[in-house]
Amino acid sequence: MPSLADVRDWTNRIGDLGYTAVRTNALTAGVGRQMESAGYVVLQDLVLLEHTTPRNIRSHEASAAAPRTTHSLDSNQLTAASAVDLAAFGTQWGLSATAIADACKATPRYRLRGIGEPLAGYAVSGRDGSQGFLQRLSVAPDHQRRGLGRALVVDSLVWMARWRVQRVLVNTALDNDAALSLYQGLGFRRVGDHLRVYERALP
Ligand SMILES: CC(C)(COP(=O)(O)OP(=O)(O)OC[C@H]1O[C@@H](n2cnc3c(N)ncnc32)[C@H](O)[C@@H]1OP(=O)(O)O)[C@@H](O)C(=O)NCCC(=O)NCCS
Repeated sequence: MPSLADVRDWTNRIGDLGYTAVRTNALTAGVGRQMESAGYVVLQDLVLLEHTTPRNIRSHEASAAAPRTTHSLDSNQLTAASAVDLAAFGTQWGLSATAIADACKATPRYRLRGIGEPLAGYAVSGRDGSQGFLQRLSVAPDHQRRGLGRALVVDSLVWMARWRVQRVLVNTALDNDAALSLYQGLGFRRVGDHLRVYERALP
């Protein structure tokens, strides 16, 4: 765990680079207390969920009322993915094309899939050995509640199972009932304590 001095030093360095605010990734309670001591405030409470049987997911896929086909996305389509993301998450949390590319780079192997033409939804999944991560999932508001989100998650889990991933993690906001219902309906279960995202304005 970083010391308070580390956090203060990193914060100052980010400020020296000209940034006006700094936001953390999802942090556990211990690190969160350090951030609060360094002047950070809680921006969002998150729930962590895990799926430990991705190899069983085909049965869910078969039972889905209207399974949809996903397609691969390449780096030229990140702007379209960002537009979907901003529409789904709003401007405070929506990702730019660069941020989506960064999410893809977060793990040694990733899968970037879209659904719909023009693009209506997309997902970024990553894996590192036997551990998998559903990094990002967005469906544009006009296309929600038609099975697209489920199809993207099923596609991710099938890909994980193909590579013998045994545990898939995803986090989502504590109050995101749509995502929680989708994930839990596909076999994800809540684990651990809440995670928190912090932010601090910089002088
Ligand atoms: C969460 C999200 C991806 C769901 O996508 P979707 O295409 O609308 O979901 P689906 O139509 O495949 O729904 C699958 C299941 O999810 C649940 N669900 C989806 N939207 C829901 C809502 N508004 N309220 C409650 N449950 C919902 C339901 O259990 C649903 O099954 P059902 O239709 O048989 O009841 C979409 O709402 C979205 O992009 N939200 C904003 C971004 C986000 O929250 N991303 C995930 C956070 S990590």
